[in-house]
Amino acid sequence: MKTYRVVIAGATGAVGAEMITTLEQRNFPVASLRLLASTRSVGKKLKFKGTELVVEELTHAAFQNTDIVLSSTSGTLSKEFSPSAVKAGAIVVDNTSAYRMDPQVPLVVPEVNPQDVATHHGIIANPNCSTIIALVPLWPLHKAFGITRFIACTYQAVSGAGAWGIYELEQQTREVLAGKPATKQKFPHPIAFNVFSHNSKIGANGYNEEETKMLNETRKIFHDAHIMISATCVRVPVFRAHSEALHVEFSQAVTPAQVRATLRHAPGVQLVENEAANHFPMPLEAAGQGDVLVGRIRQDTAFTHGIALFVSGDQLLKGAALNAVQIAELLVGKQP
Ligand SMILES: NC(=O)c1ccc[n+]([C@@H]2O[C@H](COP(=O)([O-])OP(=O)(O)OC[C@H]3O[C@@H](n4cnc5c(N)ncnc54)[C@H](OP(=O)(O)O)[C@@H]3O)[C@@H](O)[C@H]2O)c1
Repeated sequence: MKTYRVVIAGATGAVGAEMITTLEQRNFPVASLRLLASTRSVGKKLKFKGTELVVEELTHAAFQNTDIVLSSTSGTLSKEFSPSAVKAGAIVVDNTSAYRMDPQVPLVVPEVNPQDVATHHGIIANPNCSTIIALVPLWPLHKAFGITRFIACTYQAVSGAGAWGIYELEQQTREVLAGKPATKQKFPHPIAFNVFSHNSKIGANGYNEEETKMLNETRKIFHDAHIMISATCVRVPVFRAHSEALHVEFSQAVTPAQVRATLRHAPGVQLVENEAANHFPMPLEAAGQGDVLVGRIRQDTAFTHGIALFVSGDQLLKGAALNAVQIAELLVGKQP
């Protein structure tokens, strides 16, 4: 079997760590793995398949003799370093927002638009995590019944902001339970025992960047410039896995039974619906698994041809590392 020389840029981050375990768990054909991060992490040791690998510095020269780069630093760093990786002959699967809306760069969710991988010019973008988690279940519904618009309300975990988000929630929770005021560090407001509007920049139309990404990225991935989307993105005190309430309008009448039948065998989707036990998708159960959990499927009472549903998905896995490794699998010829 052909094997590939892989580099993870941002290997010490929340997503980078999951990239290492996902490559291992999915038995990706790795010939060699190199881990890059900032100077702060140089010399740190991380395990891959039982072997300790030493973290190296992310530099322009670090991409020699590399086939695939899984990039998971910041958008600014990706803009700076991804072109060097492409110049060195590697293909970059970029988890940052740097290239997602670049018309030259395919934006791929393997369950939705795997064919777009073939159009790359060296860089393939991994979509925003909230977008991926919504689109895995919405795509089969769009194909079957035609979605005209949807409203998404998110409940986003702190690890979506980076490894530091986990530390900040834990620290503040301990402080509040000990009767002390929560110490704010990177989040703009206390996150322990609180909920606040997503911590991304607000644009001229009043929507924050996360909300705007859900609109623009969905249109690009679905190849549908007309689908209408309004999102409200919110950070909640959950360590891992984003949840979303989705209110979807179709071009024709659709029943909850039809939605269940369509989603029952959809790739990457797991139905979680036990009304008697009030057991529906929850971040605690979505965390650590690759599927998006879907439930609370019901006729929407606001839209004429509407369906409401609730989803939870691990944004570090399907929303980031797993989706990136699945893209790499497409590159090496494995079908989704
Ligand atoms: N977290 C999620 O759920 C999620 C989901 C989808 C997409 N993303 C995107 O994925 C990317 C990484 O997110 P994350 O949550 O993993 O962030 P993170 O936990 O903060 O990790 C950031 C990574 O980038 C490295 N880095 C930072 N500054 C650097 C520098 N100057 N030079 C070299 N490396 C540097 C860090 O290395 P050090 O450890 O050495 O600082 C670390 O490995 C972001 O673009 C984010 O928007 C995240």
